[in-house]
Amino acid sequence: MSAGGDGLTALRERFPVLRRLAYLNAGTNGPVPAAATTAAREELEAEETRGRGGMPHFEHQRELRAALRQAYAARLGAASEDVALTTSTTDGVGRVLSALELGPDDEVVTSAEEHPGVYGPLSALRARGIEIRTVPFGAIADAVGPRTKLVVCSHVSWISGALAPAALRDLDVPVLLDGAQGVGAVAIDVAALGADAYAGSGQKWLCGPDGLGMLYVSPALRERMTPQTPGYVNLEDAAAGLDSVPAADARAYDTLALPSASLAHALASLETLGEPGWEAVHAHAHGLAQTAAEALAERGRRVLERDNTTLVAWFEDDPPATVERLAEAGVIVRPLPGGELVRASFGGWSSDDDLDRLLTALPYRPGGPTRPG
Ligand SMILES: Cc1ncc(COP(=O)(O)O)c(C=O)c1O
Repeated sequence: MSAGGDGLTALRERFPVLRRLAYLNAGTNGPVPAAATTAAREELEAEETRGRGGMPHFEHQRELRAALRQAYAARLGAASEDVALTTSTTDGVGRVLSALELGPDDEVVTSAEEHPGVYGPLSALRARGIEIRTVPFGAIADAVGPRTKLVVCSHVSWISGALAPAALRDLDVPVLLDGAQGVGAVAIDVAALGADAYAGSGQKWLCGPDGLGMLYVSPALRERMTPQTPGYVNLEDAAAGLDSVPAADARAYDTLALPSASLAHALASLETLGEPGWEAVHAHAHGLAQTAAEALAERGRRVLERDNTTLVAWFEDDPPATVERLAEAGVIVRPLPGGELVRASFGGWSSDDDLDRLLTALPYRPGGPTRPG
C-alpha cells in the first residue's frame, strides 16, 4: 500500500475477496466488505423473526431509504431532496428520458463511446421518431444544435477512463451524465459539472449490492419532467387516490421496491469506504491507476488516453485469452466489447501487490510504446 497509510491498509482488510484475488474489476462490480454481508444478514433475520407487516417494518424501511438517499447525495455533492433511489444507472437514465416527454422535432446528442445502459433507452426514443445524434466523446460539448433538447454522455468513459469535457458546464441545454464509472470513483459536485441529471450505480465503486443506484435531478429540470410510472412512494400524498400528484422532490423518481437487506448492504459499504476518508480513497485509486498505465506502457502495451480516474484500458491481441490467463493467475480484469481492449479497475482498496500480480502475469511485448497515450 503506497499512499494513505494505515487507513487504506485497514480498508483493504475489510474485503475478504482481496485476500485471495487481485480483484481489479470494480468497474463491473465492486468487492463486497464483510460488514455489508453482516448488515444484510441481520436485516433478513429480523424480517424472518419480526415479520414484515405493520408499521415497524415500513417505518424501518423508510429510515433506511432516507439514510441511503443522504449518503448517496453526499457522494454527488447534492441535496438529499434532489436524489432519487433507483435500481441502476440504466434505470436512472431511462427515468429521465421518459419523463422529458420528447417529441419528433427534438434531438438528443450523445457520444460514440456510451454503454448499452445509455444506448438502450436512447434506441427506444429513436424508435419513437426522436433524432439521436452521435459525436466523438471529446467533442460532445460543441455538438449542440438548435433542435438539441438534451445532451447525454458518460461522466467517465467506461472504455478509456477519460472524463467528459469540462465545457459541458457552459451549455444552455440540459445535460444528463451517466455516472456509472464516476460516483465513488472520482469526487463529484453535480453543480460544478453542469449536470442537470446524474445517474449512478451502487454496485460498482460504492461496493453496494446489485440492484441499487441513484439519480440526481436538479429542481429546474424536474419542472420540465413528468414521472411516467408513479407508485405510492413517489406521491406527495399516497392517500389522495386519483387526485394524488407526484412528490415535488426527487422522490418522484424513486424505484418502488428496494429490499431492506440491499439498503443495509449499501449503507454498510458506504460506511466502510468512508472510514479512511473519501479523499484518501480517490487519491490512492487514481495514483495506482496512473502507475498501472505507465507500467503497462513500459511493458510495450498501448494504453488508451485517460484522465485522473480509476480505469485503465490497453490493447491486447486476444483480450478474452488474456483475461482468462490473468484469472488463472488470480487477477480479475475484463475484456471490453470490440475485441481489442482489456480494462483494469483500481479502487481505494487496491494495493501495489495487486498491480504487481497484474504486471507479472503480462509478458513484456518488445517494440511497443513506452508511455501511455
Ligand atoms: C458507463 C456505464 N454506464 C452504464 C452501465 C450500466 O450500469 P447499471 O448496471 O447500473 O445500469 C455501466 C456498467 O458497466 C457503465 O460502465
